[in-house]
Amino acid sequence: MPNAIIHHCPSLKLARERKETITDYSSIKISSFLSKYAKGKKYYIYTHGCQANYRDSEIFKGILEEVGFKPSIDIDHANIILINTCAVRENAENKVLGEIGNLKRLKNKKDITIIIAGCMAMEEVMVNELIKTFHHVDIILGTHDIAKLPDLLEEHLKKDKRVIEVNSGSGYIHERLPSVRDSIFKAFVNIAYGCDKFCTYCIVPYTRGRERSRDPKDIIKECKDLVKQGYLEITLLGQNVDSYGKDLKKKYSFAKLLDEVAKLKIPRISFLTSHPYDFSLEIIDVMKKHKNIQPYLHLPLQSGDDKILKLMGRKYDSKKYLSIIKYAKRVMPNLSISTDIIVGFPNEKDSQFKNTLKLVKAVKYDSAFTFIYSPRSGTPAAKMKDNISYQTKVQRFKKLNEILKQQMSENNKKLLNHAFSVLVDGVSKTDKTMLTGRLPNNKIVNFKGNKNLIGKIVKVKINEEHIYFLMGSLEK
Ligand code: SAH
Ligand code: SF4
Ligand code: F3S
Repeated sequence: MPNAIIHHCPSLKLARERKETITDYSSIKISSFLSKYAKGKKYYIYTHGCQANYRDSEIFKGILEEVGFKPSIDIDHANIILINTCAVRENAENKVLGEIGNLKRLKNKKDITIIIAGCMAMEEVMVNELIKTFHHVDIILGTHDIAKLPDLLEEHLKKDKRVIEVNSGSGYIHERLPSVRDSIFKAFVNIAYGCDKFCTYCIVPYTRGRERSRDPKDIIKECKDLVKQGYLEITLLGQNVDSYGKDLKKKYSFAKLLDEVAKLKIPRISFLTSHPYDFSLEIIDVMKKHKNIQPYLHLPLQSGDDKILKLMGRKYDSKKYLSIIKYAKRVMPNLSISTDIIVGFPNEKDSQFKNTLKLVKAVKYDSAFTFIYSPRSGTPAAKMKDNISYQTKVQRFKKLNEILKQQMSENNKKLLNHAFSVLVDGVSKTDKTMLTGRLPNNKIVNFKGNKNLIGKIVKVKINEEHIYFLMGSLEK
């Protein structure tokens, strides 16, 4: 490859291998060359995908600011442009590829460094395409290689060559990376990295590696520090929080971790994402025990049909899923439940799709993220021959969403005329005269109020229900 230094390229095969987890407590070192280079220069980061990527971008910001770069409010004034990508579905990737293509116009105008990081950088096919066709990309950096950003940047600048560093089979946890958080009152805290579930449709275990739980002591310390800094909300993050601690030498459960974090007296705690296979009912008991754990559970269903669930490699059936929901609703009647559902898995029959609808009707979700199945190269499902037309998939997708919308609206009606505590996030994006925030059950409410309430917890009475948000008024 001309003009490129390729340290490592991704390998889906290596990504499947389990390595011993090593926790690295060392800090990053910045050379005087790089500090000098960064003087007066700015960076801009685009983030796609899930909360794991948003948290990684906070670390990218931390590293770049430690080098000496300042944030740029717009891309046109940035000297370093980093795109933190998502690979979960094809349409997400196409959007990013378009974005990378657009950067060429900036590169032609001035000397900038373009860095591609995140989950797309972990795919063999994608990295080959980036190297071959996107010559204006300077650095490709894998999800396990974040700490190497300063070294790779220096190498690129000194040698004037493109640099590719993507390791697939890492077992590292970096505890001392700097970060600049996006919010001064809401924080994400990773409890585990990667995923061991290997659902047959999903690319995440390949892009994020095998599951690695952080030491509970490190998590509690991070949470304590956030409390000291005045944070009001912590969301514990993992691709599958319920299996937290199963890989630790001294076994530890998520229920125990949640209980410990709740004792720190943070006003609001929530967690993402649960997996029905690993979910223990003890988690519901801990949620009930602590007022500061939000009455909100995101429990992905994916499909309501047992045969499809088996083909998806989800390791639970509809009965098990419903038994969790039944227990949760009995113990916490005001619990709000959300989910992820995929329609159009290869060869999904109409009767199987109807089983999903049946289950959806039984649960009465408060919100749902719905997706049309997207084949991901290298996953087992991508090799399955599919005889269902895209048009049928779209029809099912629409039908599912009609039912979900109806349910959400019915659930929201029950909130009318009740007052709830609301953490005020900011000014509403759609109406600049309104504030917006979230109820304890994670629903969005818009209401009139002074901007100095942003970052505070207030009482709001619900006056109007819409499908995706509520309207309310401040209670004095
Ligand atoms: N760890 C989480 C989130 C994974 S990605 C979990 O297990 O729930 C978020 C969602 O994207 C998944 O829940 C799934 O519904 C969806 N998804 C993943 N791969 C997909 C694919 N190939 N096509 C369509 N949707 C997919
Ligand atoms: Fe993907 Fe399944 Fe892991 Fe979720 S649990 S990240 S859907 S492999
Ligand atoms: Fe996307 Fe990677 Fe998250 S594929 S959903 S950014 S783990």
